[in-house]
Amino acid sequence: MDNTASLELPVHLLRPIVTKFNMIADSSNWNRFLSPPAESLGEGLLSEGQKEAIAFCTIIEDHTPRYIEDYRRRFPIDAPSGIERSLANRELFHFLVRWGLEEDRHAQALSMYQIQSGIARNLEEMEEELIRENIKDFDLGFSEPVQVFTYTFLQEKATQIYYQSLARVVREPTLKMLLLNLARDESRHFSFFADILDAFIAHHGPRILPLVVDVAVHYRMPLCSTLPDYARRAVRMAREAPGYSRKKPLELLAGHLAGWSKKMPDWQKEITDAVEEILQKNNLLPRTRHI
Ligand SMILES: [Fe+2]
Ligand SMILES: [Fe+2]
Repeated sequence: MDNTASLELPVHLLRPIVTKFNMIADSSNWNRFLSPPAESLGEGLLSEGQKEAIAFCTIIEDHTPRYIEDYRRRFPIDAPSGIERSLANRELFHFLVRWGLEEDRHAQALSMYQIQSGIARNLEEMEEELIRENIKDFDLGFSEPVQVFTYTFLQEKATQIYYQSLARVVREPTLKMLLLNLARDESRHFSFFADILDAFIAHHGPRILPLVVDVAVHYRMPLCSTLPDYARRAVRMAREAPGYSRKKPLELLAGHLAGWSKKMPDWQKEITDAVEEILQKNNLLPRTRHI
């Protein structure tokens, strides 16, 4: 394989990040099947907007097989990839299966909650609706590994903030508990992708910055082009979770990169320019700037 084709992480840098994630993950379990019986759920405590938000989140989480499939296609273990890349991709697989398990648990826990709480009345109908979305074409639209990881960095932070914000206002106790479990998992996922991004910067230096900026400038939520009525539903779901905004993860990414300019003063200009571009192109710069 042509090693100049894309910027990759060598296995010796990937391994400690994957191990750190799995060490915490192996001790971080919760049982999706141990929800209280339907009669103990306070269905009357759920607002219509919250019900819609949960249905929306279920669809996003239920796309897990496609997200994992996408990663498997991008990080194959096979002869054409060669020994070195396959070794790194094998290491990544330790993360991937655990991550997939947790995301799949999110999807199933939300689906089961919909049935238990009466948000969805019919399991077969709900499953058919979910699979109809699942079988649509899916492509993140970014080619470089660091871009895929940057995209997931943003996505994990978005879901973490969303579940935390929604949990704060939800009065139905079973849902509140479920949302807090989801938020904790998403927070661990985010930490993994933040570590990966740091490793890319440390290993490849400022040449990864334009790739990261490209993702931040073109960041869209998954399924935004395939899910019917996406824009209206996204606005309504955001309204249910005060404190959440689509742009929060982008601000956080900019702040994360800005932290690197202190650690790597030689690249201060490149990093500062990248941070400015992310903030400016997402309309996140304050109107009046004091220098
Ligand atoms: Fe999730
Ligand atoms: Fe996640």
